[in-house]
Amino acid sequence: MGSQFDELIDRRSSDSAKWKYFSPDVLPMWVADMDFCSPEPVIEALRQRIDHGVYGYAFDSAELRDLLVERLRTRHHLEVAPEHLVFLPNLVVGLSLVTGAVGQRGDGVLMATPMYHPFFNVVSVQDRVLVDVPLIETRQNGLLRYEIDFDALEAAITPQTKLLLFCNPHNPIGRAYTRAELEQVADICLRHNLIVCSDEIHCDLIYQAGSHISIASLSPEIAARSVTLIAPSKTFNLAGLGLGIAVIPDDDLRARVTTTAMNMGIHASMPGIVAGTAAYRDGQPWLDELMPYLRDNRDLLVDYVQAHFPGVVTTLPEATFLAWLDCRALELPESPYQFFLDKACVGLNDGAIFGRGGQGFVRLNFGCPRSMLMDGLERMQAALETR
Ligand SMILES: Cc1ncc(COP(=O)(O)O)c(C=O)c1O
Repeated sequence: MGSQFDELIDRRSSDSAKWKYFSPDVLPMWVADMDFCSPEPVIEALRQRIDHGVYGYAFDSAELRDLLVERLRTRHHLEVAPEHLVFLPNLVVGLSLVTGAVGQRGDGVLMATPMYHPFFNVVSVQDRVLVDVPLIETRQNGLLRYEIDFDALEAAITPQTKLLLFCNPHNPIGRAYTRAELEQVADICLRHNLIVCSDEIHCDLIYQAGSHISIASLSPEIAARSVTLIAPSKTFNLAGLGLGIAVIPDDDLRARVTTTAMNMGIHASMPGIVAGTAAYRDGQPWLDELMPYLRDNRDLLVDYVQAHFPGVVTTLPEATFLAWLDCRALELPESPYQFFLDKACVGLNDGAIFGRGGQGFVRLNFGCPRSMLMDGLERMQAALETR
């Protein structure tokens, strides 16, 4: 029997950034939204809200606060008070507000690369100094895997380093960090008085049930020095609707973030709140169907790359719908991004934008119907065979 996720939905006729960026002959497999309809209860909630006809501000929602507190407690073992939640229009603005609220201009912001590229913009926009530490690349069974270089991370810290921007699950490398790894990260933050801002936007898109661990859940000490960023946007495919949530237990830090947000007119959007509330309340059955579908896509992609892309090594993502492909051994005259765009008509993300360690890589979004994924993989294989 087919899956609801097999349906090919024309997005070119919508305002989709993903489908408008490249020319029409290119299959877009880049920016991180999925080519699936959102859960029906979300669509219905939006429909009812649209029918109301009056679209004023909606800064907050007690129901959404309660749903989030419950979800974080039951799924992520994270105890948060409803008043610790800050509603924002998206997650990147949360990264930026937190970066600006910690320390002073010129302070160092630590992160492990390759990293989701807006992290770099946030550091420069807030006049901070990037302290980037490459992850350790390993190979296991022909697959690419990354680990945190704890010694290098600690060695890079100076008295001016005030903030660790962390990503778990980690885009683009697909790791869902283990408790032991997170304990080491937390230990470093505590010993060096760093605030950790943990972007956990992909926390529901985990292939091993229960394997997401929020760093803030490890101890009251690290919780007090943490900001956890979450959103329904990746989980339920609502990226265009605009909602991000910052969990900030520390009263002073939260006050600094909310004051700047208020002064800059930054607040959540009404459709984001309506959709996010419906998604967290009624979207779980949809998510329970999505994850096996994404897992099969992931496994198909990994098998296909191993069988048909000689010289390319992929990650086996533990989370996210993003694969990270090492194309360095191909020794292409151009970047692999340009090669696959020109020769395969497949639009990927250029690994170089993800910072040190990203050159020679591409990121591939497999959050799409299986036939579309196969189309993309076959195009890429054909391009590799004729080069
Ligand atoms: C790790 C991570 N953080 C943040 C975002 C962007 O979130 P938003 O659109 O809410 O700013 C993404 C989107 O791909 C992401 O992967």
